Order: sequence, then C-alpha cells, then structure tokens
Amino acid sequence: MYNQLVSKDIKLAVVGLGYVGLPLALEFARHFSVIGYDIKEKNLTMLRNAVDPSGELKADSFKNRDILYTSKLSDLESANFFIVAVPTPIDKYNKPDLHPLLSATTAVAKVLHKGDYVIYESTVYPGCTTEECVPILEKLSGLKYIEDFKVGYSPERINPGDAEHSLQNTVKIVSACDDASLDEVARIYETVVAAGVHRAPDIRVAEAAKIIENTQRDVNIALMNELSIIFNRLGINTYDVIKAAGTKWNFVQYTPGLVGGHCIGVDPYYMVHKAAELKYHPQMIASGRFVNDSMGGYIAKQTVKRLLANDMPMEKARVLIMGITYKENVSDIRNSKVADIVAELLSYRVLVDVVDPNADPLAVQEEYNITLSPAPTSLSSAPTPLSPAPTSISPAPTPLSPAPTSISPAPTSISPAPTPKYHAVIIAVPHREYLTLTEPDLEKMLVPNGLVVDIRGLFRTKIKHLQYWSL
Ligand SMILES: NC(=O)c1ccc[n+]([C@@H]2O[C@H](COP(=O)([O-])OP(=O)(O)OC[C@H]3O[C@@H](n4cnc5c(N)ncnc54)[C@H](O)[C@@H]3O)[C@@H](O)[C@H]2O)c1
Repeated sequence: MYNQLVSKDIKLAVVGLGYVGLPLALEFARHFSVIGYDIKEKNLTMLRNAVDPSGELKADSFKNRDILYTSKLSDLESANFFIVAVPTPIDKYNKPDLHPLLSATTAVAKVLHKGDYVIYESTVYPGCTTEECVPILEKLSGLKYIEDFKVGYSPERINPGDAEHSLQNTVKIVSACDDASLDEVARIYETVVAAGVHRAPDIRVAEAAKIIENTQRDVNIALMNELSIIFNRLGINTYDVIKAAGTKWNFVQYTPGLVGGHCIGVDPYYMVHKAAELKYHPQMIASGRFVNDSMGGYIAKQTVKRLLANDMPMEKARVLIMGITYKENVSDIRNSKVADIVAELLSYRVLVDVVDPNADPLAVQEEYNITLSPAPTSLSSAPTPLSPAPTSISPAPTPLSPAPTSISPAPTSISPAPTPKYHAVIIAVPHREYLTLTEPDLEKMLVPNGLVVDIRGLFRTKIKHLQYWSL
C-alpha cells in the first residue's frame, strides 16, 4: 500500500476537510495523490481557491499539492486508503451524535474495494470504530473485515491557534486491526509526521488514549473551577493561590476558566456514554463536566451580584463581553460558553454587547442569535470590518431565548462607533488584541465605579483602582 501510494498508482482520500482533515490532506498531498472529500460545497470552493475556511492555514500551505477537492462519490471511488476526519459532536442530551461519522462511513463503504484501508481520526469512545463503523463497511461493501479490508484508528492531536504543536512535530498514535496493517499504517503516517508514530496495540487503546487526553484536562480544569468558587467565598484570588502552590515541584499548573469547543467539553461525554453501557456510572468525569458546564452561569451571577452591590438596577445595567470564540486567538465558536454568560445576563434583564476580533459575525448570529458589536473605541486597533453598527442584545421576553436588536450594518469605512459606557466589562477570551489593554483603557469603557470581570485573571496585577473580579 505504502509503495503504491508513493508511486501514485493508488490514491489516498481524506473524508472531512475541517480543522483536522484539511492539514492532514494537504500534508499527504506533498507525497501522494490525494482526494479531499467533503459535503460542504461552499468550503470546497474556498479550498480550490487556496482559502482555509477555518482561517488556520495560509495560502502557502496549498501550494504544490497533488489534491482534488470534491463532493462526488465517483471521485472518492478512485481511492484505496481512506482517512475519516468528520465531526463527532454531542446532541442536546450530551449523548454522542454519530450521524456525521456513520454517514461518512456509509460513503466510504459504497466505494470500498478489496484490499482497501479505512483509518478513523474522529474522536470516539473506545469500541466505536469496530462496533459502529465496521458493520456498515461490511454490510454496504459486501466485503469481510480484516480478510478483505483493513481498519485502523489514529487520533488527531492538533491544537487550533497553536503554532508550536503541529501535525509534523507531534508524535501520532496509530493502531490497526492486525500487525501487518499496523506496519503499513505506521509507515504511511511516518511520511508526514516527522516526530514519529506510537503504535498502540489495539484500536480501542488508541480510541481510549485520545479520550483520556481531553478528559484529564477537563477534570483538572473542573477542579480549579471548583476551587475558584471556594476561594471566591474566602475572598482570596485563585490565581494568587495557584502561583504560590506552583512553587512546589509536583504541582500541576491548571487554571480555572470556561471549557468550550469541540474537544475538551465534548469528549468526556463519549466516555460517560460508553461507561454507562458497561453499567458503570463515572462520578469524577461527570462531575467535571457538571462543574465546567456551570461556569458561564456562575460568572454571570457573580457579575450581577456585584452590579447589585453597586445599587445598579438590572434593567439599566449594560455589560460588555470581550471575546466569544471557544478560546483565545481562534475563530472557532463551537460550544462557546460565553453564550451561557450572555443568556444568564439576559435573564436578569441586563443589556449585553459582545465583541470579538476573530469570530465571524454571521456565524455568531446563526449559531447563537447574538449580533456582534464593533470594537469599543479604546480597542480601535482591533479589526471591526464586518461588525454591524452598535447594538445591544436586549433582554428577551423569555429568559432563555436572546433576541438581538437588529439594525442595518454601518458602512465599513467609518471610524469606530463611540463606545457606550458599561457598568461591567467581562474579558472572557484573552485574544492577543486584548492583552495590551491598560487600566485607563478599561476605565474609558466603564461608568464611574464600573466593574472589570477578568475570567482568566490576566489583568489582576494591572488593575489598581477599578473594581475587579476574576475566577
Ligand atoms: N479541531 C480540533 O482541534 C480537533 C483535535 C483533535 C481531534 N478532533 C476530532 O476530529 C474530528 C473532526 O473535527 P474537526 O474539528 O476537524 O471538525 P470540523 O467541523 O472542522 O470539520 C469536519 C468536516 O467534515 C465535513 N463532514 C461532515 N460530515 C461529512 C460527511 N458525511 N462526509 C464528508 N465530510 C463530512 C464537514 O463539512 C467539515 O468540513 C472530530 O471527531 C473532533 O473531535 C478535532
């Protein structure tokens, strides 16, 4: 298989060209003939023009690559080595939603030939590949697993917004259904992963390894979040405590914060689901999820409490939230926990403005029904080209359905709109554009005696006079 890929006698297909699939496909396309298959036509058009829809990759990454972007099953048929990298989200009940995975598997099954390989990269619970995907591959292709086609699993470790840890310089776990195919899969991945591969003894081991990488982070962050709730009652700052404890050699530096996105806040639910099937109800993992999922509401309530302590009637209070992406310096808004802060504040009838230099305003509107505002004047260096004219999200008639006021977008050429004075500014996502803010910058955005809520505690040494609260 490896030699045929190198000689380009056969093709490698990547199914799902998102954060994970696209860089992988482009890297393989330096060496092999690649089919990039996705169902989103709009994204495929962008990719053909060397534009990464997620904004992670520059045009250079598309140069001199042997790759065909397609949504046609007939094109997928010309491949013999398939890599599946489609989303594995959770549904509204926090249960694994395997629809994209099973639908991608169905597409592959329809074009599978004898001797082909199918490698899964999507994050799943241990057992999912062989229990859920293999039966579809067998049924629709009429071929027999292991005898006629091989399956492997190789979890992805990319970290969006992180230029340091890339596909090439991070050891990659590989696994397969038998020893001979593991050798083949390892050799193929070694072509693009300079750091090398780790051969897991079993597909389920590789699936579990990915899940626990993120579950460990989730539980540790939850511990810090819980401690921050306790330290808040004690009247001491969590970050000061962590700094002091961090002077011990074996203290691990986790910090409190919002856990959103498509990995850390999602993957533990996959483990909980599988454990429940095995009649074990995990307490640690589930309580980590409970604590982290409650933090948005907690931060909003703490803000409201402090506004009330300032004698501020809630229906007159105006709060600015800075940042809505799931973490700093990325444009990804999936599972943003900032949306929970907005919803909770609206339920108290507080007026909320949200700004973000990286998020796509249309995506935010579509996903959360939140209209992004232009950057405040003291942040005028932050890009605001797509932002509509200033508008606050009015408290909705029902607390849980925010109804943003919608007014027509301002011409992009005008200077930033004058900033309304806020009763509180919540620095929710510390994008690099916000890190240089000074106390006078924040003061300009606030009414006298206004409050700075600094979720990640980054400004705690900078703020000397303003009212300040962090986790
Ligand atoms: N983004 C990360 O940082 C990251 C890191 C490690 C692992 N993962 C895991 O990798 C997987 C992919 O995540 P992602 O962030 O790349 O997702 P994504 O949403 O960025 O991209 C997935 C792509 O798959 C396409 N797709 C959906 N259904 C399809 C189908 N049936 N056929 C073909 N294409 C289809 C979508 O159009 C999209 O372009 C998930 O399981 C995720 O948990 C993600």
